[in-house]
Amino acid sequence: MTTTRCIKRLAVTGGAGFIGSALIRKLVTQTDIQVLNIDALTYAGDLSTLEGVIDHPNHTFSKNNICDRAAVSVVLDQFQPDALIHLAAESHVDRSIESADAFIQTNVIGTHNLLAWARGYYEQLPADRKSNFVFHHVSTDEVFGSLALEDKNSKFTETTSYQPNSPYSASKAASDHLVRVWYKTHGLPTVLTNCSNNYGPFHFPEKLIPLMISKCLTGEKLPVYGTGENVRDWLYVDDHVEALLLVLNKGKVGESYNIGGDNELTNLTVVSQICNILDAVEPVKKLKRTDLITFVKDRPGHDERYAMDISKIKSELGWTPKYSFDVGLKQTINWYLEHRDWLKHIAESKNYSGQRLGVK
Ligand code: NAD
Ligand code: DAU
Repeated sequence: MTTTRCIKRLAVTGGAGFIGSALIRKLVTQTDIQVLNIDALTYAGDLSTLEGVIDHPNHTFSKNNICDRAAVSVVLDQFQPDALIHLAAESHVDRSIESADAFIQTNVIGTHNLLAWARGYYEQLPADRKSNFVFHHVSTDEVFGSLALEDKNSKFTETTSYQPNSPYSASKAASDHLVRVWYKTHGLPTVLTNCSNNYGPFHFPEKLIPLMISKCLTGEKLPVYGTGENVRDWLYVDDHVEALLLVLNKGKVGESYNIGGDNELTNLTVVSQICNILDAVEPVKKLKRTDLITFVKDRPGHDERYAMDISKIKSELGWTPKYSFDVGLKQTINWYLEHRDWLKHIAESKNYSGQRLGVK
């Protein structure tokens, strides 16, 4: 049996990023919850993701870095949340290969700062608020490492052992372990979610899908790493948000839940599909966009395949992804077609124009 928490005041970290902003937009427009949004606005965070909700009376934006424990503690103490959902992170594998410093700082030290604050805060809460409080840590399937391409049936479960292969996934694995320890040793009520590859609006164009859409629109070559046979499981971001809210409200303390889209596709299939959709909706004379596909040097330590067993969240909490990849991808491509100004804004303000990262 699951109980539902009563969350009226929710602290969110990383709410100006891709997934965090999708969560904030939903919370602010569809619930009465008071939201505190803590985000440092790194290169990956941008207030444009919060257009239309930033000044909403239920939303408070606080530009703060989770590596600054004192500053973040003051803001959180003032807000007095019923729960905290932690999404702030350095999130791009290729950047972590270039340099792991920011990943260790934010993903490990930053998470520890939030846990340290939460422990003190939780201990002084009155009994009724204590039994309701939860610290929800948002993590990734990449902590489990890589499945073999030949083995088409294996999937990660909640009990798969951790075997991270990139500085990013190692830093997320470290943060997951800290969260587990704060539950086991300090009794902090935590829930943990591990999710597969998200896609959708406001996805920073360093990641595969928005990068390929962006390059297709400018007619640039489409860099596919290695053979393009690596497999990822794609989940539309709004489906992820639904799952996060369910776990936040009903997840069992001390447990972790896998979240995935049941959409395992090779990178080459994904890129080809993007090309074909764009050829249909925005044809360019004498150009077949799949001809832009170029195989480039592989990512170092490139994980072969991710696949998630999502039976636990399905059976215990009743969640299931709603978007098929075809529908989600068309919707995503349409969004980018209608928001070319956003891509331009990101390119101009974030010092990133689609260059290859993470190789010498
Ligand atoms: P993102 O990179 O788009 O956004 C991260 C946000 O965190 C940005 O707004 C950034 O400004 C903020 N941030 C970074 N460092 C910070 C710091 N030190 N202090 C405060 N704010 C900081 O990331 P995303 O794709 O939205 O991912 C959100 C979370 O979900 C991450 O924890 C990530 O590991 C996890 N996740 C992402 C995916 C995915 O496919 N995108 C899949 C599984 C899990
Ligand atoms: O699995 C969840 C993870 O998904 C999240 O935890 C990460 O935060 C998120 O960035 C994502 O990691 P990936 O490394 O899987 O995503 P990325 O978009 O960088 O790459 C997806 C696949 O596409 C991967 O196999 C590498 C490949 N790729 C990527 C880029 C940027 C290319 O072939 N060409 C590219 O230019």
